[in-house]
Amino acid sequence: MVSTLIAPHTETFDAPAVPASTAVQIENVSVSYPVGKKTRKTILENISLDIEEGEFVVLLGETGCGKSTLLRMILGQERPTNGRILVSGKPVERVDSRSGYVPQKYSLFPDRTVLENLVMGPETSAYHILGRLRPGFRAFRKQVREEAFRQLRHMGLQESDAAKYPHQLSGGMQQRVAIGQALMMKSRVLLMDEGFSALDPATRTSLQRLLRSVWSELKPTVVFVTHNTMEALYLGTRLIVLARPNFEDHCGSRVVLDMKLPASGMSLRSNGQEFLDLVDHVEQFSRGDRHPQPSLNGESR
Ligand SMILES: Nc1ncnc2c1ncn2[C@@H]1O[C@H](COP(=O)(O)OP(=O)(O)OP(=O)(O)O)[C@@H](O)[C@H]1O
Ligand SMILES: [Mg+2]
Repeated sequence: MVSTLIAPHTETFDAPAVPASTAVQIENVSVSYPVGKKTRKTILENISLDIEEGEFVVLLGETGCGKSTLLRMILGQERPTNGRILVSGKPVERVDSRSGYVPQKYSLFPDRTVLENLVMGPETSAYHILGRLRPGFRAFRKQVREEAFRQLRHMGLQESDAAKYPHQLSGGMQQRVAIGQALMMKSRVLLMDEGFSALDPATRTSLQRLLRSVWSELKPTVVFVTHNTMEALYLGTRLIVLARPNFEDHCGSRVVLDMKLPASGMSLRSNGQEFLDLVDHVEQFSRGDRHPQPSLNGESR
């Protein structure tokens, strides 16, 4: 039975040692874009979510339902039409170091080496060009480089990869560097938009393992967009599905499923038929076959 794996939203599987606090608050957010001169198309409608520190949220939904739009709002790349988003208790007004972002691919600077890509964020956020003439910069740079090499090893890359340019790396290696780049900024919130979807299955599996081990060790708050329900169940501690009710054009997407997952991750190998039933259940919501309705175990809202 699926429901044994789905905890009511108000319960947690692994109670944290310290009381959780809210990392991301999405308050009544709606997003619409102009279509022609007089009308607007609503993409997201009245989305309200509290994401606790250390949660690994996987965001699913049909293409065009607004997953990337929501991620860009949390990042601060775009502003909601209505409502507001807070990260670490403060409203998001622009992109800043509170959130790190890993897109599907091509996020590295192609004309910079792996090492330069890794150190660039911390260096530019701490010192502007003239500030680099100040005496403290040399010591800071040394420290950041040491941290970059640590991060490189952490991501399963070799020290010799530091001098390579992105075009000399495989797609999987590039995504490892991109994750390392986001971690270098010490952002508490990690946003990933289909970060593994361009990879072959074996590389994707190894990156999933890497991300899970990074999450287990550092417990950042993660919001991870994917189209792959199995990946979502393996990675996430909370699964959210966005969908447009009744496929009516004037409606935006809403949260149609919001449920906790076991913190240990789920897989076909460990959970067998239960896993397959849950995949089917989630995909019904993603396709818009099921709409929000009160349920006894509180899995949807
Ligand atoms: N700046 C914009 N101006 C107008 N429309 C936009 C803009 N940004 C996004 N949209 C529209 O918003 C809708 C949602 O886009 P979004 O990229 O968030 O979907 P998605 O769920 O990430 O889809 P996919 O799974 O294909 O990546 C799409 O119809 C898209 O065309
Ligand atoms: Mg998208």
